[in-house]
Formats: sequence, C-alpha cells, structure tokens
Amino acid sequence: MYRTHTCGQLRLDNNNNTITLCGWVQRVRNLGAVTFIDLRDRYGITQIVIDQNSTDEVKQLAESLGREYVIQVEGVVTERSSKNPKMPTGDIEVLCKNITILNSAKLPPFTIEEESDGGDELRMKYRYLDLRRSPLQRNLMLRHKTAQLIRNYLSNIDFMEIETPVLIKSTPEGARDFVVPSRMNPTEFYALPQSPQQLKQLLMIAGYDRYFQIVKCFRDEDLRADRQPEFTQIDCEMAFVEQEDVLNVFEGLTKHLFAELKGVTIDTFPRMPYSEAISKYGSDKPDIRFGMTFTDITSIAQHKEFPVFNSAESVIAICAQGCSEYTRKQLDSLTEYVKRQQIGAKGLIYVKYATDGTLKSSVDKFYDQEDLLKWAEATEAKPGDLILILSGETEKTQMQMGALRLEMGHQMGLMDNKKFSPLWVVDFPLLEWNAETNRYHAMHHPFTSPKKEDMAMIETSPGKVRANAYDLVINGVEIGGGSVRIFNSELQAKMFALLGFTAEQAEDQFGFLMNAFKYGAPPHAGIAFGFDRLVSLFAGLDSIRDVIAFPKNNSGRDVMMDAPSQISAEQLKELCISLVKKI
Ligand code: AMO
Repeated sequence: MYRTHTCGQLRLDNNNNTITLCGWVQRVRNLGAVTFIDLRDRYGITQIVIDQNSTDEVKQLAESLGREYVIQVEGVVTERSSKNPKMPTGDIEVLCKNITILNSAKLPPFTIEEESDGGDELRMKYRYLDLRRSPLQRNLMLRHKTAQLIRNYLSNIDFMEIETPVLIKSTPEGARDFVVPSRMNPTEFYALPQSPQQLKQLLMIAGYDRYFQIVKCFRDEDLRADRQPEFTQIDCEMAFVEQEDVLNVFEGLTKHLFAELKGVTIDTFPRMPYSEAISKYGSDKPDIRFGMTFTDITSIAQHKEFPVFNSAESVIAICAQGCSEYTRKQLDSLTEYVKRQQIGAKGLIYVKYATDGTLKSSVDKFYDQEDLLKWAEATEAKPGDLILILSGETEKTQMQMGALRLEMGHQMGLMDNKKFSPLWVVDFPLLEWNAETNRYHAMHHPFTSPKKEDMAMIETSPGKVRANAYDLVINGVEIGGGSVRIFNSELQAKMFALLGFTAEQAEDQFGFLMNAFKYGAPPHAGIAFGFDRLVSLFAGLDSIRDVIAFPKNNSGRDVMMDAPSQISAEQLKELCISLVKKI
C-alpha cells in the first residue's frame, strides 16, 4: 500500500497515528536543526518535519530532495506547537521516520503554488504542471461537481444521456466545420459536430422524448475569452413540449445549480424580448446586474443647429449616476474608447449635471440650459450625474452604446462577480440579413420554427418574422440557446428555400432529416448550455480556459502537444490528399 492517507486528510484526531503519505515536494525549508517539507497532492498540503531525532539516512534523503520530487513518507502525526489556521491540516505535522524517493523531478519552469510566476504561454506548454496548482484543481473539481449535479438532476426527471457520433456530415450553415479525411472513402470527409443538433432531432423522431448529453462540440471560428474551438455543451431536446416547458425545465436546472454550488437562491428569471434587449441595452445578451438603460433623445435633440445630431437616425443617451466629476482626461479616454475600431463611434457627447444643479456639456455652443435640462429629465439624471450621448445610424449606435454602457458599468464597479442576474432573452428574429453573401441566414439555426402569429410575413417581409428561439443570459454572458423546432417537412423545405438553398442542395445536405420528418415527427424543442461558460461563471472567472483541463491558445493551438502539426507524406498519400500552398 503506497499511502494510508492523503495530504489533505490528517487532523488532530490522528494525533500519534503512524501514517504513510505520498505526494510532490512543494517546498523544503532547511532551518539547520529542523527541516520542513511541504508535501502536496490534490487533496492538500501536509507539513513533514525532520529534526534531531530523525535518522541520518532520513536527514540525508531530505537534503537531496528537489522541488516536485515524488516521495513517500512514513511518520507519526503530532500536534503542532505553532498552528497554521489557514491550512486545513495546519493543526498537525508529521514527524518523519522514513522517506522513499519514488521519482526525482527536473526543476519546474515556474513555481507551482497558489500564485505562479509563470507567464501564460509557459504555463500552457507545461499544462500538466500548472494543473498541479490549487486554483486549477479547484476549477476542475467544480467542473466535475457541476457535471454530476446536471446528470443527476436531468436523470431524475427522466432525461436519458445518449451519445451521438463525432464523425458526421459537413453542413453549410453555422460556423466553419473541422473536417476529417476518410481513408476508406478517398476524397471524402467527415465533419466534427458543431453541435449534435440534427442527431438530437432524430432522437425525438425515434421516440426518446427527453434526451441530454454532456458533449464535445467543434467550431472553426475566431477565438475569444469565452470561445474555444472545442468546447462542451449540455445538449438537450424534448418532445411534446412548447417553449414554456423547455424554459421551465432549464430554469429549474439552473436554479438547482446556483443553490447547490453557490448557496444562492434565485427567483423566477425575468424575460425580455430581443427587440427590448437591443433598444435598451444595445446587446442580445444584456448584463442586467445594473441599469443604465438607453434613452432615445432623438426628438428632443434635433431642434438646434447641431449637424451631428440633426443628420443622425438616432440620438441615444445613458445616465452614469454620480459621475459628474469625471475629469477631462477620463472623458477623453471614454471618447477614445468608443472611437476604437472595434466599436467605431465618431465621437462622444457628454453633459455634466453638477451637484449645484448647473449643466455643462461638450455641445454648449448649440444647446442652452433648458435643452440640457430636458435631456436630464428624459434620462432621469440627477445633480451629480453624467449623461453620455452617441448618435448615428440606429443599429450601429445601439451597439456602440451597448459597449460604452458595459465600460461604464466596469469603471463604476457595477459588475460584481458575486452577484448573479439571469435573464431569458426571447422572440429572436428568425433570420438575419448577411450583406456579404447577399442572403438571409438563420439567426439561430435553420431548424428553428417561426412564430405562428408572424407566419403571414414569411413571404412578404421575412426579416420581420420572429422565431420561437430563446437564450439564457447570465451577467451578460450567453450561457445557452435553443428553440422550438420545425417538425413538418414542407415548412422545413420552405425554410431552406428562404435561406437560398435550391431543392437539390437542401436534399443533398439535409435530405436525411427532411425524410425522417415524414415518418411521424413529434413536436419538439430544445436547448444547449455552454458547459465551460457555465462553470467559469460559477468559478468567477472571465475566461473559459481555466475550467478546461487542456485548452487551446488564442491561435487555436495546443502548445503542449504542438498541435495542429504536419503529417507524413505517407499519411497524406493514404488519404489521397495533396497539399496546395495557401495563396
Ligand atoms: P448555440 O450555437 O447557441 O446553439 O450554442 C449553445 C451554447 O454553446 C456555447 N458556445 C460556446 N462555448 C465555448 N466556445 C464556443 N466556441 C462556443 N460556441 C457556443 C454558448 C452557447 O449559448 N444546437 C444549438 C442549441 C439548440 O438549439 O438546442 C446550438 O448549438 O454558451
């Protein structure tokens, strides 16, 4: 037996017990008369003591230890004279009787402690060493616990976990596919699933009316803090349900997770139509931990000679409470912020509502106190507040103001990561126009059903048709999305036609699904949560990387394995692939 206990287990109750521990040497402190070893495993750290009573052999072995050596220690548990209340094992230490070096270790390239001195790339290259650190261990433990809670919760309400294949057919909608060549079918490729969408719909047709899967998905898209090329979904589908049923089940699951993992009770999640999210927050994933909603002041801003406002489709304002003392420098940097290429505003107008009641703006040349007071009334600004205004084409201005609102929320400390504000965004548009391809794209995916009451517009103004589609947003992060599906092959064919597919293309790409619809498809609906995003929200992290054991870097590379990498000429030949240089 290698060990009797783990390094996080021993307490005063074990006083005088003879025990054996195994672990990694975190640190050796040689103080002359005594040497302390901090011995670590994933359960914790235990202090090992070598003193004048230890044998010479043990003393010599202790001296030869380096960081991250793997050792086995036999000893006797004793009460510490100076206890460490910060460590769960801090009341005891182990008087060392014997040390066995199980393996030596090269000096690690960074310190493996709570805080590390290693840079991002270095820690990614040696991810297995970084994973020894307790913050990452805590994250992975949280991930495991979350997955277990989800499995139990859904299983208890009759959901079945069913695995779907990872080698599937490439389909044109959505992000880019990762593809895999087939040796047995030369010149042909599988795709890795962007999600098991069509397969879970087929499971509904097969009669498995409550399906879920914690499943890897793959998307070849540009990466951000909340995006990885391979990520995990909690993918679900239900038959004989309406939107309301899906929202209730998954609101229940989310509340359960909050209660179990964070001890937080959350009332009914509010719901907001997509159109309101855009017009009040400039985002389809509003962070409602704070207000600062938009006020359209177009009608009270266009009566003077200020050409910028007069030529704008919309003039939009927000009120930043208590910010009237913002300095010139702060306002300049806000202006720089909105003018950044990613945001693209031309400029920023401000009105400072001083505590003495006077109003001072960057457009004083055009507007008097009376005008400014009207804006203050409209935005419900009080003395001491700052009004920020952007103008231009409506949609663009809303998005720009959405970014500015978040920046202000950040600067004003309104984005507390201990507060959780979930929200259902509902009634998404069915389609969005893509100027590049000059056609409509499905906003969610092509299997989403239009709202019955909007069906009349499907031929005349398809852009106005709303879908039975919904997103779960928590603290401004899109945690999940889903929809009620089309379950009728004629409507599905019409949808493909709207998306610009010829009947032949639709048949070629989606024939198996449309055909399946002809064999008794039940009404069905579903949703998928981003599991990595959910865990990082619970962990209070901004990036999903740290809740993934082996993530990719920002260029989609695994720097530890050095993937992707070239393959041999023989492999290429076998797969009938000849490489062309990228032009
Ligand atoms: P959707 O594309 O909205 O829906 O994806 C569902 C959720 O998955 C998460 N997500 C990601 N997480 C990390 N990295 C990524 N690259 C990434 N892309 C998406 C998000 C998102 O809300 N089949 C549909 C669901 C359905 O209709 O049932 C789908 O995949 O949290």
